[in-house]
Amino acid sequence: MQQVLARFDQAIGLETSPRTSAGTGALPEAPSAAVPAPAPAVVAPARAPAASTAAAPALRASAPTAAPVASTHVYPPESLRAPGDAADRARRLSEIDARHAAACPHCLAATGHTRLVFGEGAAHAELMFVGEAPGDAEDRMGRPFLGAAGEKLDEMIKAMGLSREQVYIASILKSRTPDDRTPMPEEVAACGPFLMEQILAVRPKVIVTLGGPAAKWICGTDAGISRIRGTWQQWTPPAGADCPAIPVMPTYHPSYVLRTYTKQVRMEVWSDLRAVLAKLGLSPAAPAQPR
Ligand code: URA
Repeated sequence: MQQVLARFDQAIGLETSPRTSAGTGALPEAPSAAVPAPAPAVVAPARAPAASTAAAPALRASAPTAAPVASTHVYPPESLRAPGDAADRARRLSEIDARHAAACPHCLAATGHTRLVFGEGAAHAELMFVGEAPGDAEDRMGRPFLGAAGEKLDEMIKAMGLSREQVYIASILKSRTPDDRTPMPEEVAACGPFLMEQILAVRPKVIVTLGGPAAKWICGTDAGISRIRGTWQQWTPPAGADCPAIPVMPTYHPSYVLRTYTKQVRMEVWSDLRAVLAKLGLSPAAPAQPR
């Protein structure tokens, strides 16, 4: 375990002098192209969803400064059923991706972005990371968590003994917000349910939320991230879904780790990730096998 901790310290820079801003750390800045591509998904043709008779629940999400807005999203029955094998999950994700691109009320109305960022990774991942919204690099490339924050997330995943291909990564919003501001409640109410459908399709054993907004929206709490990080929360599926509640570990956003590069913050993040590994029955010393 000492060796593993040392590896994580090295990966996240604990053995180096604290740095105060993103992009100035001891770790080499890898170009975003170096991030491995996800395993190809089974692509299913987009099709119109059959309307569910189940009323869409109000999204439990709440913005830090405003009250939640009720969602009018209608979950197709296909999205509410339990997922099957990896190919079935990949097919479902492809269908959600196509339907989101064609019909998300928020992303269709938004004008400040270049590309949609649906999310990527293993359709059958046991571990899912949820961020807030794409930034500049993600907006240009159409992939989640690139740039400095993406490199930090990659380091965190690697230190867990996992790879990007073994996890699934998505964000609450799939289009960049103007000035990278925090998503508004009405944006979350419109776009957020597609993330809920992604969670139902992947059905991870554990969700890690990155940053305060993701924790609030996924866990349905108003508590601040510094209060709830490191404590197990849960994601409650939408009404009618054949899915149990999923344990959620809130931790800091990689951008915050880069901005607040203190030993304490990095130790807290590693403590959160170790709790996740324990929950998954994994050890960083014995890397996980894809299931
Ligand atoms: N930050 C997020 O929260 N999500 C992304 O996809 C990228 C950066």
